[in-house]
Amino acid sequence: MFINTAEIVISAVRPEQYPEDHLPEVVLLGRSNVGKSSFINAMIDRRDLARTSSQPGKTQTINFYRLNERFYFVDMPGYGYAKVSKKERERFGKMIETYLLTREHLKMVLLLVDSRHPPTEDDVLMYRWLEYYQIKPLVIASKSDKLSKNQLSRSMKTLKDTLDLDEDGYIFFSATTKKGKEKIWQKIEHQLQL
Ligand code: GTP
Ligand code: MG
Repeated sequence: MFINTAEIVISAVRPEQYPEDHLPEVVLLGRSNVGKSSFINAMIDRRDLARTSSQPGKTQTINFYRLNERFYFVDMPGYGYAKVSKKERERFGKMIETYLLTREHLKMVLLLVDSRHPPTEDDVLMYRWLEYYQIKPLVIASKSDKLSKNQLSRSMKTLKDTLDLDEDGYIFFSATTKKGKEKIWQKIEHQLQL
């Protein structure tokens, strides 16, 4: 996929603010600091269109990035970050849930999990929640540049077993080396019929 144009259209907190141009959307889910915003930048070859930080809790709104004027990447706040107040966490949770359950232009869910650790309790809950609503996410195992070959194969097995994934249900990715990028684009192009 060659990205000619990439622009942030809106940082939304309410459905009335979502874009109204009826383009298909790919949403990024995952716990805080897992690499959702970095994923977007790496996939579209922009260094810092989506704001990233080593501190969890960076993304606090639903950010719509329009790409090639054909489709959107939708960046979400992360879940499961203990240092955000309970009230804030509930607000983010509600924002994410509203988007997922009401957005008719949502065509694909990418669920990021940290490849260095087994999926957290929150990751499993998120996966099961999506399953309950018959949403099948593509699981992206992030930060895979940090793993040795041995760690990588162990991590794959743990991930597959924990979430009970098919062989084509997950892809290992690195925003640093761009490992997995082409495979993921293929899946997105297929799913969105780009
Ligand atoms: P929130 O907005 O807080 O939900 O976090 P996020 O999921 O958007 O994470 P973000 O992209 O801001 O990345 C968090 C940290 O992880 C940053 O310091 C990134 O540089 C780092 N990071 C993200 N992806 C990778 C990766 O593939 N490899 C390595 N080594 N570091 C990464
Ligand atoms: Mg972010």
